[in-house]
Amino acid sequence: MGATFDDRDGFIWMNGGLIPWREAKLHVLSHALHYASSVFEGERCYSGKVYRIEEHTERLFFSAKALDMNIPFTAKEIIDGTYAVLKANNLRDAYIRPVAWRGSELMGVGAQETRINLAISAWVWGPYYGIDERLKGIRLQWSEWKRPSPETEPVMAKASGLYMICTISKHKAEREGYDDAMLLDYRGHVAEATGANVFFVMNGEIHTPTADCFLNGITRRRVIEIARKRGYKVIERAMMPEELAKAQECFLTGTAAEVTPVREIGQYKFTPGEVCRTLMSAFDEEVGKVIQAKSSAA
Ligand SMILES: Cc1ncc(COP(=O)(O)O)c(C=O)c1O
Repeated sequence: MGATFDDRDGFIWMNGGLIPWREAKLHVLSHALHYASSVFEGERCYSGKVYRIEEHTERLFFSAKALDMNIPFTAKEIIDGTYAVLKANNLRDAYIRPVAWRGSELMGVGAQETRINLAISAWVWGPYYGIDERLKGIRLQWSEWKRPSPETEPVMAKASGLYMICTISKHKAEREGYDDAMLLDYRGHVAEATGANVFFVMNGEIHTPTADCFLNGITRRRVIEIARKRGYKVIERAMMPEELAKAQECFLTGTAAEVTPVREIGQYKFTPGEVCRTLMSAFDEEVGKVIQAKSSAA
């Protein structure tokens, strides 16, 4: 294993200023660790510019509010902090992780007076496969877990607690030779992968589940706009898993996944084709990605 995430050179922005990477610590009696009072973002910087940083920052505030947390910084301070982190770590192409959490001042479910902390880290995200290789598509297994109803959890927040079923689903999928898992929702509708939204191509039209009980990704929304601009009909609707038999192509969208073709979800097979190719390169163009032959940030 390479350097672990707590043992690296560099700087992390924490509660208002840059500190050495290894000193960005929290106590074992932090409320967030025990009760999942934590929200976060995942962002990407391409050639020195953070893609849609305002929207990500807005969502961070939205998620925090959903968990009754008031982040004690302004959007401008967070955005300035993000660029300070990139500069301090000498990064122009990177993944960025802002995280806000309840601290250790009080222990117990109710902990209204706890401090809300905020940290921003950035690092180079692993190897990314060249377009030809990415085009083969990834393989997904059906998860045994269901995305909960909006009455059960604050499902539109990017909150750590919502990732519990994602991690166990993804672990099982990986153990059984898949790349990721696909979740249905509490009604049995197709929902999303463990960290990305999903789209299907059916006879030239693009269909995607309505984001009414899972994260309505920033990439998802932008890819819908890009596809429509390119003349594709995009339909957001409730989708049943059996309908996947009628899809020719399938792809995921997300900050980490960008646009990633899928070739298999359980018993259903897809062949990445023209729509995947078009939207992958349209998205790369949109973010200003410099395409390298085989490797770069993911
Ligand atoms: C569960 C989940 N769904 C969807 C997405 C895609 O969201 P975005 O495009 O805003 O990164 C993510 C990634 O953040 C995610 O973790």
